[in-house]
Amino acid sequence: MYTEEKKKKTNYGSIFVYCFFCFVLVVEVARFAKPYYKNLQNLMETVEVVEEGFLDVENSGKLPCHFLRSRSASTPARTHEKLSTQIRQEIRERPPTSYCVKFESFATMQKLVKSNGDVYESRPFTIGGYNWTLLIYPNENKPQGSGGYVSLYVKIDNSTLIANPRDVYAEITFLTYKSTIDKYHILKETDAQRFHLFRQQWGQLNFLEIGYYRDPGAGFIFNGGQSVFGVDIFVTTPFNEWEVVSYEQNIRDPVFNWKFTKFSTRDLDYYTSGSFSSGGRNWVLKVYPNGVGSAMGNSLSLFLLSASNEKGYVQAKLRIIDQIRSNHFEKQVEGWPNATENGWGLDKFIPLAEIRDTTKGFLVDDALKVEVEILSFSKTDSFSN
Ligand SMILES: *[C@@H]1O[C@H](CO)[C@@H](O)[C@H](O)[C@H]1NC(C)=O
Ligand SMILES: *[C@@H]1O[C@H](CO)[C@@H](O)[C@H](O)[C@H]1NC(C)=O
Ligand SMILES: *[C@@H]1O[C@H](CO)[C@@H](O)[C@H](O)[C@H]1NC(C)=O
Repeated sequence: MYTEEKKKKTNYGSIFVYCFFCFVLVVEVARFAKPYYKNLQNLMETVEVVEEGFLDVENSGKLPCHFLRSRSASTPARTHEKLSTQIRQEIRERPPTSYCVKFESFATMQKLVKSNGDVYESRPFTIGGYNWTLLIYPNENKPQGSGGYVSLYVKIDNSTLIANPRDVYAEITFLTYKSTIDKYHILKETDAQRFHLFRQQWGQLNFLEIGYYRDPGAGFIFNGGQSVFGVDIFVTTPFNEWEVVSYEQNIRDPVFNWKFTKFSTRDLDYYTSGSFSSGGRNWVLKVYPNGVGSAMGNSLSLFLLSASNEKGYVQAKLRIIDQIRSNHFEKQVEGWPNATENGWGLDKFIPLAEIRDTTKGFLVDDALKVEVEILSFSKTDSFSN
């Protein structure tokens, strides 16, 4: 009776209490949920920053929840591009250049490889004179430490290395096809990797989260479960040819004399001296008795040439000897060859009038004495294996 009475009595009151309780509940829930919502937002932002290459996936909103969870848990691993400046992650259109593996079903392969050490090893392919295989680990924590990531490795066939032990340097890029954008997601190490008898495989433990291969919205599985992996292997061979450039200054046998006889009866455009060695290089002098180019008919042209057609920097003094007084007429050349066919020299070396003026002493018994003193030159030596 008492209770019945009380019930009746509190009928309106209880409605009010109930409504009040509901109101409080809604307010509390909103208050309680706010930080989580914020956290979620933060998480999404982090993911977007880290995963610049995946913005379209994020925006599609199709990622399963565990994805965010596993990613926040594996943040250190995911930010490997920040941990190591040598690893670059990007998108490209060009397909793999060395080898490509397509699974008709990624999910089936995950099961099948369990009895094979959780790895799928491709058939061998030949790159740079070596045989290689691509190793794909599609399952969690295989190999040990890979966490929730697919791991990709390449292995060099050691038979060639056993026969001929040596270091093989190879630049390696792993790829996986992303159908939503019809491009390849790539992860590349910018440094070449060194392979040798004691290091026959190398790869990326954290290539890409396995979660991406569970969600068709991410684009890495397509056409009902297919997935594609590939690799670029570029075997770099060290140079076989090289050059050493030096600058010679203390020239052995720097001076060469050339007696140019019968000056007035010469009728060819130019004459070349016999070759002479100076500073370990062979040279010739070349004279145009009646000038060349703008000097023709008014000046004698004189040049120093490399007998083996070397280019480079030369510093030399070109002279016509005054055979009466022990004196000479001299002009210095310095620089790189500026007369393509003629090496280092001058079109207008000395006016013909001065030569013909016998008081100057240049022409004695119809003979000129031409001289060169080589002061310095740059030298390039080539080598090859
Ligand atoms: C690569 O493999 C093929 C087929 O297995 C073999 O014939 C070839 O000799 C191998 N090449 C090297 C460099 O090991
Ligand atoms: C060469 O490779 C094979 C197959 O991967 C392996 O079984 C063998 O131990 C390797 N040999 C050496 C000397 O590393
Ligand atoms: C080559 O350079 C020298 C200066 O070193 C200059 O006097 C001479 O006229 C140049 N010769 C030609 C053919 O341009």
